[in-house]
Amino acid sequence: MVSIAIDGPAGAGKSTIAKHLAKKFGYIYVDTGALYRAIGLYAYEKGKNTASEQEVVPLLEEIEVKLAFVQGEQRVFLGERDVSQAIRQPEISMAASNVSAIPKVREFLFDLQRDIAKQNNVVMDGRDIGTVVLPDAQVKIFLTATPQDRARRRYEELIQKGHKVDYDQLLEEVIQRDYNDSNRAIAPLRQAKDATLLDTTNFTLEQAVQAMTELVEGKLKDV
Ligand code: DC
Repeated sequence: MVSIAIDGPAGAGKSTIAKHLAKKFGYIYVDTGALYRAIGLYAYEKGKNTASEQEVVPLLEEIEVKLAFVQGEQRVFLGERDVSQAIRQPEISMAASNVSAIPKVREFLFDLQRDIAKQNNVVMDGRDIGTVVLPDAQVKIFLTATPQDRARRRYEELIQKGHKVDYDQLLEEVIQRDYNDSNRAIAPLRQAKDATLLDTTNFTLEQAVQAMTELVEGKLKDV
């Protein structure tokens, strides 16, 4: 099986680019952030403090997270409930980041991610795919852009979807989430030694997709 691992901070364009690549190569696109979001959503809806290990860990005994791929689209389930939409609410981003710092949460999701990659050719994106989840991935890319650029993209995306958002607040959240994700003790966001860095600051999304496709095509030739 072939794995393409894409890591990087929030808003660098990982999911759009990964989806495009998956379609192009006929692979399954696995958005691992959705798994952390599902757990964040569950804890949030239960009124728990998502940053508290004591409050979140006991929930893992009752949580059942599943991924399904419907016509190439990933759907996320909590038990029988399809939460693919609900996990995208802006307030769930920080909840996901919070629960993702809890080692038992990461452990809980590890096999699920690994098993999908064992059974399918995948483009998998996240924060620790090249470093921890799929250290033997044939292709590893670390995708980044400045916080300002990423906040701007998120702003435009949310406005387009009809959300009311404030750019400065989004920028602050991006910086806060980068800090959280990069400074946690376990599996922090960082570039794998053997990953190729792609900085998409000032790229349009089309340019980023183009650059990434060329990069991955070049690398897949050697696989
Ligand atoms: O990619 P995203 O914004 O949907 O991810 C939500 C949060 O989940 C993110 O702030 C960090 C965490 N995450 C992680 O720790 N490891 C991953 N492989 C994917 C996401």
